[in-house]
Order: sequence, then C-alpha cells, then structure tokens
Amino acid sequence: MASTVLLGITGCIAAYKAAEIVRGLQKAGLRVKVVMTEHATHFVDPLTFRSLTHEPVAVGLFDDPSDPIHHISLADEADAFLIAPCTANVIAKIAHGIADDLLTTTALACTAPLLIAPAMNVHMYEASATQDNLSLLKSRGVAFVDADEGYLACGYTGKGRLAAVDEIIAATLTLLGESRSGNNDNDACSLRDLTGLSVLVTAGPTQEPIDAVRFLSNYSSGKMGYALAGAACARGASVTLVSGPVSLTPPSGVDVVPVQTGMEMLEACQKFFSRADIAVFSAAVADARPAVAFERKLKKGVAEDAAALSEIKLVPNPDILATLAANKDPRQTVVGFAAETDDLLDNARRKLQCKHADVIVANLVGAGKAFGKDTNQATLVSATEEHILPDMSKVQLAHRIFDFVLQIRN
Ligand code: C5P
Repeated sequence: MASTVLLGITGCIAAYKAAEIVRGLQKAGLRVKVVMTEHATHFVDPLTFRSLTHEPVAVGLFDDPSDPIHHISLADEADAFLIAPCTANVIAKIAHGIADDLLTTTALACTAPLLIAPAMNVHMYEASATQDNLSLLKSRGVAFVDADEGYLACGYTGKGRLAAVDEIIAATLTLLGESRSGNNDNDACSLRDLTGLSVLVTAGPTQEPIDAVRFLSNYSSGKMGYALAGAACARGASVTLVSGPVSLTPPSGVDVVPVQTGMEMLEACQKFFSRADIAVFSAAVADARPAVAFERKLKKGVAEDAAALSEIKLVPNPDILATLAANKDPRQTVVGFAAETDDLLDNARRKLQCKHADVIVANLVGAGKAFGKDTNQATLVSATEEHILPDMSKVQLAHRIFDFVLQIRN
C-alpha cells in the first residue's frame, strides 16, 4: 500500500506552491492528506487541495463532527508529516509543544518522522528566536529542507524562500526511506558540509569461500553502508565505498570497490585509508574464514570431501577497523559499528576503546531487528557522549552519524 504523507500547510504566500508539492508526492506514488492552518486558507482555498487529493482537507480542530479526535486519526495515518511551507510561528509552536490548532496539535500527536520546509521573510528567518527554534528541533531529530536565498515576496532579498519543490519531494522520499522518483534519495540534502573531505565506507557482508560453491557469510544487506556512502556524497564528500557482495545499486557519484572476502576488504581499505578524513566501517566482516578454500566442489558422497566439509577449520579474519584505526592520525575520524544482541552499551564502550574508534554506532540485532530493514534504532557513542536516537530510516541515521562526526571534528 502507498505510504501516506500528511502535508501541513501554514499561512504564508508560499502556500500556493503546496499544490505542486501535492502533485509531486502523488507522482512519486504517495498518498497525500492535507491539514492547513486557518491562516493558510486565506492564501489558498482548501478546495484546491481537496480537488487534488480527493480527500477531505482538515483545518479546524472541531470541523469534523464524525471524528471528535481528528488530530489523533490524522497523526496515526501519517507515515511522514511534511510541513511545507512552514512559518516561523508554526516552527516556534512546534519547538515549544504548543498545540492550539489542528495542525500543531497533530504535530504534537504525530510519531511519524517530521520534515519541515521553512518559508518566511529574511529577518524573521534570521531572528535569534527562529534560529534557536530551528536548532532545538534539529537536535530532536526533526528533518529540514532549508530555505533558499533569493528574492522574497515581501520585497526583500535574502534567505527565507521555500526550497524548490523537487528538493522537498526528494527529502520526503528520503525520510520515508523510499526512492520512487528514481533519483538518489540524498538529492534532497541541502547541506554541503563534507565538501573537500574524503570518506571511506565499508559495507555489506563478506563471503569466505569453502569451496567452488559454498561460503561462510552473514545476514548483512549492506543498506546501512550504502546509505552512509550516499549521505556523505550528497553532503559534498568524495566517497570510496568498499563493498562486500550485496544486491543494491550503488549511490551515484560514489567510487565503488567491490570485494568478496575479508582479506580483500582489508587490502582495499589499506589503499584508501591514509587519504580518508573520515572512515566508517559498517561492513559485517566475517570473523573467520576457512583455512583452506577448495577450488573444486566438495562432494558429500566422497568420504574425504564429506570429512573436509564436516570439519572445516577456521582461521580468524583480521579486524579491519582495529588494524587501520590503530595507526590513524589526529586528522582522521573513525566510526565503527557494534551490532549486538545484548549488553549493547557496554559492548559499544569496549569496542570504542579496543578498536581505537572515535565513534561507535551501537544497535541491537536479532529478533527481526536491523538486518535487511530500512530502519534502524541506534545509539551513537563517543568518548564523551552517548546519544540515543529514535528508530529512523537508515538514510536519516547516516546523516545523524555524519552530524555527530562533524560535531566531534569541530
Ligand atoms: O567486533 P565486531 O565485529 O562486533 O565489530 C564491529 C565493527 O568492527 C564494525 O564497525 C565492523 O565493520 C568492524 N569490523 C572490521 N573487521 C572485522 C570485524 C569487524 O572492520 N574483521
């Protein structure tokens, strides 16, 4: 079933662009429901959105007598809540938990990811109150498509113009972990804060051959590593992705080095590590490999082969992260992962130290968690901080990891 985007429209002249946003989201295969503030209805009639969406348009808290708790049903239906355009007033209200109309009450009640596209006069945008509110919301994990600079309807020139509709659509798809537009999800990213930096990412599982047809491996899908590579690239970095065997399309603009085994992954990383400013080791490298890899197929019916199969001798694989990070220089930031079934934070803290990492992304695995999924719930652990993040798309998590890395580097 199509995901539902709840589109919140607030009272500013850019409200007329919301009609294009509705069409763009629909073209991407999404269902759109609209909630407007009373002020927004002065700029565009709700009928416009009702005609486009074929759904009732919600405005007043008490408008729908058949649904006395309309804000809850709207909030529960949303897979993502996009507010575009969003005024300084509504940003302020959401930042401070004020719920005095249907849109802001729904925002408070909504547990789906929230994406805000601000639009306002440049002085309102630059006002300390607005900037503080934006920072507060960002620190809570709210996603933004930042306002553009340019000529504003009020006659001023400066920052405050609603971001391009395409950018808003792409950001919504990113938030939903979808790429139905066929574009790179990260096209939505307006940050270029990794420009000039080299990022190395490892991704996916490794396959350790037993014979010509068998290997040892694990459940890693590579989605987290590919999301990291895509996010870094979207933020302006030059990215090398050393990838184990996965069935994913690499993000465009990323240099991909395909490898199969842990030893090949180490060799590839050794080539690129010294020039990396940031290295993120998200690959699930097999901890061990068969001591002997037979070039032919071992046959169960042949006694000697059956014995070789039942007694595969394993030798440990090198720990790529620990090996490379042991010799990192102070300009480099190294991120590792700790996928654990228990004692998550203790293990993460231990790995931070023994693997010489600057950040460990700790997440629980097993029982349907993390592997192969589009979302992940993680805690970012550094020597001085621990950030527990909510469950979010792997693309979002990738951006939060780079936010954290930049915070450490600054
Ligand atoms: O020890 P563990 O496998 O749980 O550590 C996970 C972290 O170490 C991940 O960042 C993973 O990419 C990295 N790792 C590695 N080489 C290995 C094993 C793990 O780089 N052989």
